[in-house]
Order: sequence, then structure tokens, then C-alpha cells
Amino acid sequence: MQNRFWRIARRPEGIDFASALELVEAPLAPLVDDEIRIRNSHLSMDAGTRLWLTDREDGYQPPLPVGAPMSGLVLGEVVESRAEGFAPGDLVRAFGQWSDWSTVDAVMSGALVLDPTVSDRRSWFGPLGMNGWTALWGVEKTGAAKLGERVLVSAAAGATGILAVQIAKLLGCEAWGIAGGAAKCAYLTDELGIAGAVDYKGTDVGAQLDAAGGFDVYFDNVGGALLDQVLTRMNHYGRVAVCGLLADYTSGRRTAPAEFDQVLMRRLRIEGFFSPDFMHEGPALTERLRSCTRRAIW
Ligand SMILES: NC(=O)c1ccc[n+]([C@@H]2O[C@H](COP(=O)([O-])OP(=O)(O)OC[C@H]3O[C@@H](n4cnc5c(N)ncnc54)[C@H](OP(=O)(O)O)[C@@H]3O)[C@@H](O)[C@H]2O)c1
Repeated sequence: MQNRFWRIARRPEGIDFASALELVEAPLAPLVDDEIRIRNSHLSMDAGTRLWLTDREDGYQPPLPVGAPMSGLVLGEVVESRAEGFAPGDLVRAFGQWSDWSTVDAVMSGALVLDPTVSDRRSWFGPLGMNGWTALWGVEKTGAAKLGERVLVSAAAGATGILAVQIAKLLGCEAWGIAGGAAKCAYLTDELGIAGAVDYKGTDVGAQLDAAGGFDVYFDNVGGALLDQVLTRMNHYGRVAVCGLLADYTSGRRTAPAEFDQVLMRRLRIEGFFSPDFMHEGPALTERLRSCTRRAIW
């Protein structure tokens, strides 16, 4: 049987990702032991995908090789299995290929059998998936947010950010978001009901942050110049949970905070975190996140 898949034809230049990928076809190979074959119904195109496509060797994982099938999280039904615990018909999520069918080692791909009764399957990528795990971990563990503290999230209207602000709110914190433009800021305050939003594309971001007041936790998805603006507005003993560096992914620059001395002046803790490191905690995190979704928080 033929399988269509996206192949990495070349490294992307700037934000031209379309030319980096080409759609090709190849016959499916027979399964070997421990593998499953998934008929993909959804694939997840995540912000971090951009890093995997670059040739950076010092990232949190090696670059995807040119010529290889594009990979990422996929969702779909098992059609064939030579792995224990997986049967045809199971709904699964795994790190697979951007293709019609993904062929993966069940363990190495982190494949998980999912509850098919969740009405919107895409939730398994968002609140019940890696974005949910990341948001919960970053706010609660790395950020160590406590009841009544003030939590600021950058890229707050993005897939991870909308969950991080809501989780902060659920934990009894005062949640603030940074987003680009009035519409996204209004979404955060009016729809999600968080305490306030800062428009980083608006006028005088520093003055907006001053008006907001100091923060105990900064859940940072962005890095770059915005990090400097926030470092000088952190409360003493605050925590910066570094989730992502969106400002760096296509700019060719690396975040190098000019206000780094604030770490000492304000006794801050800055710590990065990476969801595959706590993948084993995933099912427990999902259960907690499901209890929130049952209350229709998102
Ligand atoms: N550490 C981990 O384990 C982990 C796991 C998942 C994701 N992440 C990271 O989390 C971050 C967010 O991912 P996501 O999936 O939520 O992204 P997303 O849904 O693609 O959202 C990205 C949003 O970020 C904002 N943005 C982009 N560039 C920006 C910049 N230079 N300055 C300020 N805002 C910018 C844009 O919104 P505006 O319109 O508001 O500008 C954009 O819509 C990424 O850095 C990703 O790599 C980390």
C-alpha cells in the first residue's frame, strides 16, 4: 500500500516553511516487532517544530535529518499492531510522521491509548496533551505558583499560553497575559476572565507592565527583549519558568538578557523545563486536566 508523507526537502529559510517540505509517496513496509501502524486523523504542528527543522546541534534534541519524513505528534486509529497493549481500533496519540499512516515503535514514540469518548479529539493535543502538561507543569512545578501570587504568561493567547493563564487562575493566582493586539488581549480578559493583559505590540510595553504591578511568576514562552522588560518588574524571590523562546526561533538571534543582574538584585530563580522530561507523569497530569475540562473551564 502507498503512503503519502511530508518529507524534509531542505532546511527552512526564515519563515518559509512551505518550501522546506515536499509531499511524496512510498510503499508501506511490513511491521516489525513492537511497532504499530496508525491511520492518522490529526497531526500537530507545534511552535517547537521550527527548532527541530533547523540544523542546531545544541538544542534539546538533535535536528531532524534532511530527507527524512517530517515527524511530530499524531492522533489516529491503530490499524495493525505487533506491540503489546495496542490493538486495531484503539485511538492513540504518538510521535509519528506527517503522513497518511504512521509506523512507530510503540515505546519509543510514547504511544498512548486514549479514551475515545472525549468529544473533541483535538483536546488530546491541547488541554489533555502536551500543551496541557506543559502549562500545568510550568505554572505549578517550575514556576511554583502559590495561592494569591501574581502570574504573568507571555504568548498568552497561544496554545500553551491560554492553558497556562487558566491553570494559574484555577490555582487561585492572579493571572496576567502578554499578547499581541487588542483583540487577543480582550479575549484573555473578557473570554478567559484573567486579571489583565499587556499588549506587547501596543505603545509603551514598559508603562503597561508598570501599571500592572510586580509579578511572582513569569511563564515565559518568548524570551528576547520582552524578558528584559519583565525581569525588571519581577517581585523579590520571583520565579521565571522558561517554556519557550519564540523570539529566537526565526530571528537567528539568541536571547541574552541585558537585565540579567536582576536575578541577583531581586533574588530570582530562572529555570527551563521540557515536557518529554516528565512524559512519565503524563497520564496523571491528564487526569487532573480532565477534571478541569469536565467543569468546562476551557
Ligand atoms: N518546554 C516545553 O516542553 C514546551 C512544550 C510546548 C511548547 N513549548 C513552547 O511554548 C511556546 C508556545 O508554544 P505554543 O504551541 O503555545 O505556540 P503557538 O500556539 O504557536 O502560539 C504562538 C504565539 O506566540 C506569539 N509570539 C510569536 N512570536 C512572538 C514574539 N517574538 N514575541 C511575543 N510573542 C510572540 C504569537 O502571538 P501574538 O499574536 O500574541 O504575538 C503566536 O501566535 C513555544 O516557544 C514552544 O516552543 C515548550
